[in-house]
Amino acid sequence: MRSPAVPAARVYQRSGIHDVALRRGYEACRRATRATGEIEYAVSLLLPPPLRTATWALYGAVRAVDDLADASCGTETPGSSSGSGGGTDPGRAGRLEAWISGFDADLRDGRSSDPVRQALIHTMLTWNLPPGFLHTLFEELRQDVQGRQFTTWQEWRHYNSLVNTPLVLRAGSLLLRAAGVSAEPEAIAAGVPGAAVAWQTAVDGLYLTDALVDLSDDLARGHVPLPQEALDEVGVCQADLLARRATPAFEELVRRLADRARAWLDRTPLPPVMHPAVGVALGAYTDLYRLRLKSAADDPAALLHRRPALPRGARLRLLLPARAKAALAWGLFPFPIRSCPPDPASADAPEAAGRAEERRTGAAQRRPTVPPTPHPSGARPPQLPAEAMPRHVAIVMDGNGRWAAARGLPRSDGHRAGADALIDVVHGALEIGLKHLTVYAFSTENWKRPADELHALMHEIPEGLRRLTDDGPPLDVRVRWAGVRSRLPADVIETLVEAERTTRDRTALTLTMCVNYGGRCEITAAAAKLAQDAVARRIDPGSVSEHAFARYLHVPELPDVDLLLRTGGDQRTSNFLPWQATYAELLFLDTPWPEVDRRDLWEAIEQYARRSRRYGSLPRIPAQLSTTGPSKP
Ligand code: IPE
Ligand code: IPE
Ligand code: MG
Repeated sequence: MRSPAVPAARVYQRSGIHDVALRRGYEACRRATRATGEIEYAVSLLLPPPLRTATWALYGAVRAVDDLADASCGTETPGSSSGSGGGTDPGRAGRLEAWISGFDADLRDGRSSDPVRQALIHTMLTWNLPPGFLHTLFEELRQDVQGRQFTTWQEWRHYNSLVNTPLVLRAGSLLLRAAGVSAEPEAIAAGVPGAAVAWQTAVDGLYLTDALVDLSDDLARGHVPLPQEALDEVGVCQADLLARRATPAFEELVRRLADRARAWLDRTPLPPVMHPAVGVALGAYTDLYRLRLKSAADDPAALLHRRPALPRGARLRLLLPARAKAALAWGLFPFPIRSCPPDPASADAPEAAGRAEERRTGAAQRRPTVPPTPHPSGARPPQLPAEAMPRHVAIVMDGNGRWAAARGLPRSDGHRAGADALIDVVHGALEIGLKHLTVYAFSTENWKRPADELHALMHEIPEGLRRLTDDGPPLDVRVRWAGVRSRLPADVIETLVEAERTTRDRTALTLTMCVNYGGRCEITAAAAKLAQDAVARRIDPGSVSEHAFARYLHVPELPDVDLLLRTGGDQRTSNFLPWQATYAELLFLDTPWPEVDRRDLWEAIEQYARRSRRYGSLPRIPAQLSTTGPSKP
């Protein structure tokens, strides 16, 4: 009755979502969106399939988690899930935290056995949404569980600016990216003078509307979702509200709140450069909110008892032309998928299908990449099951100087030979299907070396990178830089930044170059930034989790290291990735780095595949081994 039947199978097909389990997760998200987000669902239908499914995953996952947290699925919450008296429900909070920490662990793996989490992870990876974004989502749920209480409008708006606005901006950035406009919320805000304040104001309008519409649900939980200041202005007392007394003062309150929300919504700016269909979708979104606000304001007394429904006729009068306009606009200006799954969990994961679709539709946007060149010996990579593959290998490329000295060559020759070794290893990483390779090229401690060696290194590092990224047709390798600018020559910084920029759409392998990198420096800088954000009240110190902290690292998206390899014979980590490698498998090779090639990488990965990783828990003994008994080499 409310929306046209969605041929869901086709939508998933056209979004590149082919895996049955993944579809199940998206379907759960779709149902949750339809059930709880009437407006969001209606607007999602104006979007092309990949954006539609992303909307379902983001909105629906949060609602589905909310439901999970609500369901009395344990013995901790006797009585109703809606709780009483507005206090925190520890059972609900506990279930929520369990879900979130399960999700964090799954996100590190890039996959989940829980269908809803898998859909959400798929969307995060497909659209390259940083983990911090999720924590904004989760923070909103946490605050819901705690029952938010605000004294002043300033506090109410401050909460919105911390939790809700970043969420809406991130979701909006999905649309803008699809429209071929800037992808970052900061850039959205920066694109229009005064836009940051205007976006904030618009989101305040949306949330105030929701506060009115959800009033009866909130009151049922003993919670008043409005600042005390708003009640005081008109002389409404909390007790009257909780007793659902429709006093004249309450009617005046609703009138004032509706006026305020309307004024905020009417200041909504639409970014000036935009795909017309995105404009239609955003326009419909705010218009539907205005309609929602009108139906709330029309019957104040009813708000105390039920959620007002959107009037069907007015809703259709809005949506039918929007649907026609959106279809026309998407037809005239086809959806230019600019993003792509940057980081599927494994080569055979469902995301691979998404990448195929992306390649089909987005080919014109990217310079074609070429496959890796085979090793001159004809060696081929070992075939390993996807679950045995490390996701992230990090290498301390050590031994250049000693390799050169042993040959009577200057140390600079060792560094040049080291760059050749890296290029071969990158080809091998692509061949074996590794997703993340991180290499230590220059540490913050290496400044202690003599000037002539520093000079050679500051030449060889950018030169090696240019050979990898600029010589010949490009490999499907995305380059990232982890390190600090301080003391680095400008041309080195420029080469690193330029390599990051020109390779940002490549997806097969992410090569993170650690140049002027030090682990303690990275953690200290992260702590300093976090402290600044806490002082500026952009982050609540009480909510700092490991995940929230990791957002401040040089490359927040860098996954945990699975295998840390050091060449050159020394057995230490020398300030390399202390945060990311806490549970890495360590492997030390005597071979100096210039003598290493892709076959050493493959051999190291095979050794890794034989290791048993326990993460502090008990060994997982494969069934066949436990019956035949362990064998000692
Ligand atoms: C690694 O090789 C490269 C850098 C540290 C920049 P080294 O230059 O440390 O080589 P060794 O350890 O002296 O042989
Ligand atoms: C580690 O090697 C740094 C790089 C490989 C870039 P070093 O050669 O600097 O390490 P230490 O000083 O021997 O520990
Ligand atoms: Mg060394």
